[in-house]
Amino acid sequence: MNIIKTFNFNQWDTTVDSSVRDEVIDALEHGHVIALPQLEFKLLPEEQKFLSPDWADKKSKNISLRPRAGGVSGLKGAIGSEADLSAIQAMIQRYADQSLQLISAILPSYMPNLTIANTSFRPLEVETRASSYRKDDTRLHSDAFPSNPTQGTRLLRVFNNVNPYGKPRVWRVGEPFDKMAEAYLPKTKALLPMQAWLMKQLHITKRTRTEYDHRMLQLHDQLKADMHYQQHAPQQSVNFMPGTTWIVYSDQVLHAAMAGQYMMEQTFSLPANALKWPETAPLKVLEKMLNKPLINSR
Ligand SMILES: [Fe+2]
Repeated sequence: MNIIKTFNFNQWDTTVDSSVRDEVIDALEHGHVIALPQLEFKLLPEEQKFLSPDWADKKSKNISLRPRAGGVSGLKGAIGSEADLSAIQAMIQRYADQSLQLISAILPSYMPNLTIANTSFRPLEVETRASSYRKDDTRLHSDAFPSNPTQGTRLLRVFNNVNPYGKPRVWRVGEPFDKMAEAYLPKTKALLPMQAWLMKQLHITKRTRTEYDHRMLQLHDQLKADMHYQQHAPQQSVNFMPGTTWIVYSDQVLHAAMAGQYMMEQTFSLPANALKWPETAPLKVLEKMLNKPLINSR
């Protein structure tokens, strides 16, 4: 099976027939990566200078725009004039705006329930020597974050490779989420009643970790720890060339970033119930397998 589904849209505000929109949403929700090799994010001449790792603070790796907080984070403190700061912010904001235009054009049914999350520019090379296996994104995983529980909302991401030297962003993508979960979910543990409360009180988590988040995190960690799985599980390698946009549910598609530098990324979140096919959401897949609700407050 080819996990990559390619379309030829070449404008962020493209107009698309409803039959093509159906193809996009069906493929995306069933765990495909939507690749748009002709949808370039164009940098202005004066933005070319931002294509350097020197702009990023090495700790945060991403230069990010947070919609609620405002302003950019992750810039190296000493670098840049006020004019540079507003120019880099404008570049990242333009990517956020165009990503939203794209979603509204090809996935219009998401719009009433879509939340705009962070927008990032990653000028650093993919890190091949992570400090721990859990942080090693060259290992196949679906996204789950220890301090940032999603409580079952989907992570929809729009990426673009802006590399000026012709270098691809190289990913590996793995087997369908439910196949992985069938093997690994039985090895995960339930969340202890006091555990979530305590993590929230101690500010280890930004909001309450649900059992869904707890299981997703264990799947993430177990998969990354299993080198046999990493090498032998069904997978394909894909090169996203410069000028390519790709859209993926990163909480569902098993992915690993192998190489590349200079990438834009927009994150959206969406409740599982707002999908066309809610049963494909990791929340629903895990609830069905465990035969119980994994989010308390529903
Ligand atoms: Fe990831």
